[in-house]
Amino acid sequence: MSGGKRADDFDHPDVVIYPDGPMLVRGATSIRDEDGTVHPVVRPVVALCRCDKSSRLPWCDGTHKVIPRQ
Ligand code: FES
Repeated sequence: MSGGKRADDFDHPDVVIYPDGPMLVRGATSIRDEDGTVHPVVRPVVALCRCDKSSRLPWCDGTHKVIPRQ
């Protein structure tokens, strides 16, 4: 048995990126935005806005669904 860590030994959040949609993050305890503000996470999964149009940044509010695709 080797002494190295396996990828699933690390305690880190899982991230899923949806095309033309948010980034889902599972297992995070906080999110630091681009201004350095730390947003505590109290839910098991959170959706982070990637379109920058949400009225609740950094969280996705669904606005991406009404933005025309480019
Ligand atoms: S990705 Fe959903 S509002 Fe921006």
